[in-house]
Amino acid sequence: MPKVIIDGKEFIAKENETVLNVAERNGIYIPRYCYHPALSIAGNCRMCLVEIEKMPKLQIACATTVTDGMVIHTQTEKVKKARQDVLEFLLLNHPLDCPICDQVGECYLQDYYMEYGLKKSRIDLKDKNRKPKRRDIGKHLILDNERCILCTRCVRFCEEVTKTSELFINSRGDHSFIDIKTEEKLDNDYSLNIADICPVGAFTSKDFRFKERVYRLSSTSSICLSCATGCKIKVQHNNGKIYRILPDPNIYTNTWICDNGRMSYKITAGPDRLTKSIIKSEEHHLNKAIIKLFDILKEAKEKNLKIAILLSDYLSIEDNFALYYLGFEILKTDLIYASKEKEQKIEDGILINKDKTPNSNAVSQISKLYGIKKYEDLKDCDLLIGFYDDIEKLNIPKNKSVALSYKADKEYDNLIAIKTYFETEGSFINWQYFLRKTAPSVSAPTDTISVYDLCLKISELFGYYPKEKELNKIFNELKYKTED
Ligand code: SF4
Ligand code: SF4
Ligand code: FES
Repeated sequence: MPKVIIDGKEFIAKENETVLNVAERNGIYIPRYCYHPALSIAGNCRMCLVEIEKMPKLQIACATTVTDGMVIHTQTEKVKKARQDVLEFLLLNHPLDCPICDQVGECYLQDYYMEYGLKKSRIDLKDKNRKPKRRDIGKHLILDNERCILCTRCVRFCEEVTKTSELFINSRGDHSFIDIKTEEKLDNDYSLNIADICPVGAFTSKDFRFKERVYRLSSTSSICLSCATGCKIKVQHNNGKIYRILPDPNIYTNTWICDNGRMSYKITAGPDRLTKSIIKSEEHHLNKAIIKLFDILKEAKEKNLKIAILLSDYLSIEDNFALYYLGFEILKTDLIYASKEKEQKIEDGILINKDKTPNSNAVSQISKLYGIKKYEDLKDCDLLIGFYDDIEKLNIPKNKSVALSYKADKEYDNLIAIKTYFETEGSFINWQYFLRKTAPSVSAPTDTISVYDLCLKISELFGYYPKEKELNKIFNELKYKTED
């Protein structure tokens, strides 16, 4: 293993490791624009220049492989001067957009300028190059060519990750600009990752731009529930409102996230969000709705009506087991159903799973353990409790159903307004068998309830007080992995 000295300290490098990576691994930060750990090395921005003894010229740290005995300096006057010059060059034609730019707070140009720049521009404002601005370049993205520093991260992302190659550098010299191939739109399934990796405010997200300043956002780690891949995400929010979702890169599942998963937060505050429960077509506050639901169930039980319960691949392990408990132990019904096992595989070679539900891995295990019937076996029932999306797919008469829902739907007589998993905790097993939890990022509307709490409250009204231990025993019976 090569030994190197960086800024006077000795480090052991890995074979073929670059100067930038050895330094980063050991807590020494070298500024960069074009380097991105998940893309090929372009070496075009020159921001990462460092001094290496016995080499006459400064070298770019992102593309220089260490050799045994190499002595590297990242903070000499020569290096700092080179960084200043690179910044001056990059800022030469940069527009004065900072006050209105959405990248403020996470702009590498601003950050490094404050650290190394602080020079007056040697070019007059009127002499700056003009380039296209506010280009509507795809379903989710706006491109401002004047702000671009031509690092090519976006071009490489489209070539190497999505392999869709929509972007290229048009023209030459200081007239160069990022362009899209004729007749194309930047509409691949992962396009919003480009807004994340663009180090300046050239690519911005249509959904997020001008909504909130990034330095006002708090981040909550959670998981995406839009398919069985279960990507790790950061949910960013302020004052009880979610503004955007970013990937939470990890070695197990994902570096990126897809655009569909990124938009999934919209269920929390969409125009059709169900904020109050409906029982017998009348809207009720939460406590009243629970009592009314209890009355319906009690009457059905006393009359020996057939009550069916649906477990759901969309709901957490806790919620599913609470539903099972409510059906089997309290309502004494064996009409409990779950979906068939689903085929799980990454269908696009990147992240998107063929299984568009987040928890079929857990629910199919619960089904086997507890002898749960399949949805197809549900022939007849007088009353059915289940998650809205499942009831919709099963085509069950809506007047026989109590749907647990985030969504308002006038066709249902009974809808219980539930919390989304952006508002409550829940455990899910992804297609790789990792057990992961959602975390509440924002508060739920006052009159909503988690499925777990609803089942517990109904059980209590029936005179049963299940212990947490009783409901959590399911975790000892499931097969799953945890991350180190
Ligand atoms: S648009 Fe952004 S990511 Fe693409 S080359 Fe310009 S600065 Fe880099
Ligand atoms: S690939 Fe699946 S889990 Fe990952 S972000 Fe997209 S929808 Fe969510
Ligand atoms: S980060 Fe090394 S040349 Fe751009």
